[in-house]
Amino acid sequence: MRTELSFANLSEIETELLAVLAADTQTAKGPDAKPEPVLLTADAAVKAAAAAVLAGGEYKAGANETLLLHAPAGLAAKRLLIVGLGKQAKATVHGVRNAAGTAVRFTKPRGIRELVLALPELDLLPQGPSVRAAVEGAFVGDFDPDTYRSDRKDQSVQSFTVAAPAKSEKAILEAAFAQGVIVGESQNFTRSLVNEPGNKLTPTILGQRAAEMAAEVGLGWEVHSTEKLHELKMGAFWSVAQGSEEPPALIVLRYEPAGVTDGPVLGLVGKGITFDSGGISLKPGNDMDKMKYDMAGGAAMIGAMRAIALLKPRVRVICVVCATENMPDGKAQKPGDVQTAMSGKTIEIINTDAEGRLVLADGLTYAKQLGATHLIDAATLTGACVVALGMINAGAFSNDDATYAKFDGALTTSGEKFWRLPLGEEYAEQIKSEIGDIKNTGGRWGGASTAAEFLKVFAEETPWIHLDIAGLAWVEDSKPYIAKGPSGVAVRSILEWVKSF
Ligand code: BES
Ligand code: MN
Ligand code: ZN
Repeated sequence: MRTELSFANLSEIETELLAVLAADTQTAKGPDAKPEPVLLTADAAVKAAAAAVLAGGEYKAGANETLLLHAPAGLAAKRLLIVGLGKQAKATVHGVRNAAGTAVRFTKPRGIRELVLALPELDLLPQGPSVRAAVEGAFVGDFDPDTYRSDRKDQSVQSFTVAAPAKSEKAILEAAFAQGVIVGESQNFTRSLVNEPGNKLTPTILGQRAAEMAAEVGLGWEVHSTEKLHELKMGAFWSVAQGSEEPPALIVLRYEPAGVTDGPVLGLVGKGITFDSGGISLKPGNDMDKMKYDMAGGAAMIGAMRAIALLKPRVRVICVVCATENMPDGKAQKPGDVQTAMSGKTIEIINTDAEGRLVLADGLTYAKQLGATHLIDAATLTGACVVALGMINAGAFSNDDATYAKFDGALTTSGEKFWRLPLGEEYAEQIKSEIGDIKNTGGRWGGASTAAEFLKVFAEETPWIHLDIAGLAWVEDSKPYIAKGPSGVAVRSILEWVKSF
């Protein structure tokens, strides 16, 4: 998708489709309070073109509600699309992100290849963040998961333009626009990885894709396999990998900005299970196909690293993705086995389906060994987290309030929803083992927290955040602004967290 930032007069822009935002200005409540939609532009010609239909009363400017006009009088554009932001008093930059996605997803299936989105002219929302969000939202909307359909028409929107008011601070908007392109493309890179089925994206191929990206954007990279796992004594990671014919991949990406030789080193650790069958504790057949997305945490880290390499924050970042399949096999680990992790801690395997925490345990230890002073991990870790928070919020945990506060701040910019869940001594009790140091499951209750407690054993005293994205990595029901399929969740929040250092 080509992208452009324009400061031209809206009514003079020649395009297939001009999208303009609208909001509902009605503040009264009650049964007689009719919506009062207004167009969020100062352009008199655009307003005039939409006046009759807005006065008509059918269009309410609800969030992502669309209305299309053909041959709008007085405009150079062939079509005028109105996209709702909802109540004006509650309008947010994130609403603009979604509205941009909605405009793109409206345009795509109609075979229209270009559109221009007008930014609100009113001082309703900060302009820089709105430009960035609009571009990100456009990329998010443009992604469809139909990679292997033989009737796949290349329906991608070819050209997306953001039209900003002429009196804007151009340099600021241009910078915000460039950021939006990088972030949107990086999030889609993550989604393209997550979308791949297990047979097409083995751990080895995930390693290759990460390495290609790293070479392209100038990151340091290494991809190791079985031998290195043994050399590093990664007994927890290997215990999962040993049951698969596919060799594991230990993916390391490094971002080392010139001249930055002290200060924090941020360690990004991702779960990269390219297929999770459950292993010997085999999952039921229903929905097992979904477990191709069990590498979404690792893919989020790889996508975030892409954005970091291009946006160049002044902080060192190291990324470790532990990629393997979790398969049942003659060589697979068994419930009851005891494994020794890289840190030296012994783990009693109760359920081979609790494999994510095993690979992450060694990933966290390795990131620390490579010098990480602060850790963040992302994983599709537990069904329990989905039960707790649904598909609305992802789970977040931390052993350090100051580090978490930075993440919380990052959410304002990313527009993503994470909800902090508790750790605690009582949860740690649940994973004590009789035969070894800890066991890999903590019983029926509080499964998201006991999984996080397990990881905390390996983060040790290092400030650490754990993101459980099991419920959000895959969009189950398509929305006006995003297709059903991989969401790319966490890429934007991790990036903003990194930038906050
Ligand atoms: N990958 C799954 C978690 C998952 C579930 C992700 C649903 C996405 C959607 C993870 O490896 C797993 O199997 N977890 C088990 C842990 C249990 C055995 C303690 C779970 O949540 O059931
Ligand atoms: Mn599992
Ligand atoms: Zn898993």
